[in-house]
Amino acid sequence: MSSQQRTSWNVQSSTMAQSAHNPIRQIVDKLKLDPQATKSFISLSVGDPTIFGNFNIDSSANDAVIRQLQTFKHNGYPPAHGTVDARNAVATMVTCPEAPVTADDVLLTNGCSGALDICFNVLGNPGNNILLPRPGFSLYGSLATIRGMESKYYDLLPEENWQIDLKHMESLIDEKTCAILVNNPSNPCGSVYSKEHLQAILAVAAKHHVPIIADEIYCDLVFKGNTFYSMASLTTEVPILSVGGLAKKWLVPGWRVGWIVVHDRHHILDAVREGLLNLSQVVLGPNSVIQAALQDILHHTPETFYQETIEQLEKNTKLSMDAVSKIPGLKPVQPQGAMYMMVGIELEKFKDIGSDVEFSQKLLAEESVLCLPGECFTYPNFIRIVITPTVDRLEEAYKRMAEFCDRHTK
Ligand SMILES: Cc1ncc(COP(=O)(O)O)c(C=O)c1O
Repeated sequence: MSSQQRTSWNVQSSTMAQSAHNPIRQIVDKLKLDPQATKSFISLSVGDPTIFGNFNIDSSANDAVIRQLQTFKHNGYPPAHGTVDARNAVATMVTCPEAPVTADDVLLTNGCSGALDICFNVLGNPGNNILLPRPGFSLYGSLATIRGMESKYYDLLPEENWQIDLKHMESLIDEKTCAILVNNPSNPCGSVYSKEHLQAILAVAAKHHVPIIADEIYCDLVFKGNTFYSMASLTTEVPILSVGGLAKKWLVPGWRVGWIVVHDRHHILDAVREGLLNLSQVVLGPNSVIQAALQDILHHTPETFYQETIEQLEKNTKLSMDAVSKIPGLKPVQPQGAMYMMVGIELEKFKDIGSDVEFSQKLLAEESVLCLPGECFTYPNFIRIVITPTVDRLEEAYKRMAEFCDRHTK
């Protein structure tokens, strides 16, 4: 026993834990429902399509999981980065002549969040910086902070369908930049980038030799007139870690299956590949039963399921655009995919609302409707609407929002 014997308890939370934060929680915790409220609560705030019961996984995928469960063969530990069969299922889904991959290029992870966590950890050291979209999904900033990395935000331009301000993005790159994160289609913007825009982003990455983390969790959830291009399919030069998962396209966020696909034609990422494997071995990836069903889920879900999901999202988006663009003081930006709509608040038209947080606070208190303020996505003066509720809930929410804005505008 050392002479410095402890004489009392003093157990602290680590500095890493202290730096961990979820800005959405911090902001949402300040928003309070009126306990006396008589109106039913409508949440347009959570990006979980299953909440309202109108978006459901295809029954064939459920059956596939049940079948695998009943074999009694998938109750043990799978390999840390996923079974060969499950990795192969992802590889054969995403491979294409422009960006060929095999099971060796795939790691399975605990949801897409788990994939992002591993990507940030493998590319960034404390003191590095990473380029993130503004507005953007708040997890990115949280992951950078706990890793001791600086988040440098590049601007998205609402008047140009949220395309990246490429000059601004390029101006942020320096010798400490470890990656550029690109989220397409986007949460919270619902934007879908054209091939030309993605190529222009890749040209900046190539010029400065910076790898890309492509968050493509909303892949294929695009509306008529738009096409989803994976970033990897548009370059042979820039190394890309592409992340995705079952959460959105297959509507099962709770199943916690995500993946990283390594696209690296020129062996630039050899050390990173080894690092990815090391990191994946610290905490095992997704559960074995869903992995066993992955081949069926990814390759045998009927095409009609995907079409119906998009049709419903598109219908809800149209309804939302029509209703919100008529509300005084609000300016929605047309989404092209995903599950979200950003709405600008013309604060100068309001007599007693000074910020997006105050807008959300008062809307919740007076109308029992919850939307996340843009502050949650480092983008003040906007709110984000999740467009997955049922039509009747959306209509009711927009009716209340219109009454609210009528009362509060000059
Ligand atoms: C852009 C984006 N990336 C990643 C994720 C995380 O997905 P998962 O639920 O698979 O962890 C989300 C979830 O909302 C998201 O919106």
